[in-house]
Amino acid sequence: MNNLWSEHVQGIMTLYLSRKLRFHDYFAEQYHNIFKLDKNDKMKILEIGCGPGALAEALHRWYPNASITAIDRDTNFIEFAKKNVAGVEFLEGDAGALLFEDNTFDMVISNTVQEHIEPSAFWGEQKRVLKQEGVCLCLSARKGINCKSDCLEMTEDEKQYWDDCPDWREQMDRLQICKYPMTEAQIPKSMEEHGFSNVTTGYAIIDLTPDDPKYSENMACQMIEAMRQNDLEAVGQNQISGYEKIKDIINRKYDKRLEMYKAGYKQWDTSVSVTMIIRCNASK
Ligand SMILES: C[S@@+](CC[C@H](N)C(=O)[O-])C[C@H]1O[C@@H](n2cnc3c(N)ncnc32)[C@H](O)[C@@H]1O
Repeated sequence: MNNLWSEHVQGIMTLYLSRKLRFHDYFAEQYHNIFKLDKNDKMKILEIGCGPGALAEALHRWYPNASITAIDRDTNFIEFAKKNVAGVEFLEGDAGALLFEDNTFDMVISNTVQEHIEPSAFWGEQKRVLKQEGVCLCLSARKGINCKSDCLEMTEDEKQYWDDCPDWREQMDRLQICKYPMTEAQIPKSMEEHGFSNVTTGYAIIDLTPDDPKYSENMACQMIEAMRQNDLEAVGQNQISGYEKIKDIINRKYDKRLEMYKAGYKQWDTSVSVTMIIRCNASK
């Protein structure tokens, strides 16, 4: 049983809801243009470090004939995914020692996982389980834009709560999170150094702006709820004294934000994520 990530780094809803939006069908064309995969292919796909399963869920919609397996070492994520995501086989497993035989998959994919795993194990295992010329897709979150509505700014009580919490950076170091960060230039270079060929790069830009009329009410509300869950789970990971009060403050702020949205009182708050996608082939 390993619940390190879901209990100390990012909660189930933080990852599931944010990724459900990031991999929403509204944005699918951006991914298809870079993935360059046949939508009808009966390929075997492996997702590494799948978290609660939102990317695997999107892959099942986008490639209905594919057989998809997804692994993560966090038990809570895998249990959640098994109950909530259909059409995918979810397994607990370590990316550094994959449970599969050599030459098993046509495509392997990961989203925001590379920076946490030692590169020769991370790339070496993907190359090993890929078939000759199989496709490796590495998705990596880069610097985006975050602009909050005034009604969501941190209150003095919340600031005090965070000041009283254990230092976040120290915890990340202790848990060895993000131990192998790479720049936009280093990731493709590292893949080439580990024997991948035909490397190409691209970027998916996902703009989440609830007030933009191009988004339906349903999608706008999903954006606001995803932010609420992110904030609630973040404080929930440090349940020090005052936690219940802070939870109430957060809920009231997001209730207000939803009310403003529904009343047409525009805030134009936005969150733009930039995902770098590196695509290459396994040459053996
Ligand atoms: C930033 S999260 C991303 C999760 C998911 N890809 C998503 O975008 O929602 C990183 C994930 O990598 C997983 N992880 C980290 N090291 C791992 C390892 N050695 N083997 C398997 N999974 C690992 C964590 O449990 C976590 O779910």
